[in-house]
Amino acid sequence: MSARRKLVAGNWKMHGSHSANAELLAGITGARPFACDVAVCVPFPYLSETAVALAASDIRWGAQDCSAHDQGSYTGEVSVGMLAEFGCRYVIVGHSERRQYHQESDQLVADKARAALARGITPIVCVGETLAQREAGETDAVVKRQLSAVIHTLGHCAGEMVVAYEPVWAIGTGRTATPEQAQAVHALLRAQLQAATAHAAGMKILYGGSVKPDNAATLFAQPDIDGGLIGGASLKAADFVAICRAAA
Ligand code: PGA
Repeated sequence: MSARRKLVAGNWKMHGSHSANAELLAGITGARPFACDVAVCVPFPYLSETAVALAASDIRWGAQDCSAHDQGSYTGEVSVGMLAEFGCRYVIVGHSERRQYHQESDQLVADKARAALARGITPIVCVGETLAQREAGETDAVVKRQLSAVIHTLGHCAGEMVVAYEPVWAIGTGRTATPEQAQAVHALLRAQLQAATAHAAGMKILYGGSVKPDNAATLFAQPDIDGGLIGGASLKAADFVAICRAAA
């Protein structure tokens, strides 16, 4: 096991309502303390109420995307400056759903990560291959290419990001990467980080993709898996709390 403190971050995606959020956040805060860092990444309209609900706790909050621009005529976009005003600690960038449905390029993802860091918000940079890419033996090349764009754009700040390996074929499918499959990619990513920054050994690399209470502990026990980015199971307090407990 590594000395890195684990991080479990919920990715609510486009789910929630005032009442559901209140119940979920109460369930999470009521289960403290946790032996890992815990965060929730919520839809933009719910940042304000999330900040209020978590203010007196050590649970952190963040967003699921941001603009690469500071401000301007970008209808529908949200800047990292705005996220900072809501106390966001994290922002997910480059989630496969953004890459797939919004045609986000490796460079755009990298620019978003740079914008976040410039405002003191930690980007959780997602990388991961599709099933077709895995079956074609392209997994290593794909994740390396995705991470490489971010490393080059962040330069000496690269050590400040969090990386999340999320195989696209495991997201929301109930099909999890085996701990060995995940560890192999995490080790590859850490080696890539090691070549770029002196801080690689202390950086968090999260696994995401159908993490559940019953598979979290074995995934988190892998030497280069430093926690998880949790989608579906982050919407039920009992499941999310159980996953956080597995990251002791
Ligand atoms: P999942 O989603 O846990 O529902 O598979 C993970 C993610 O997309 O971040």
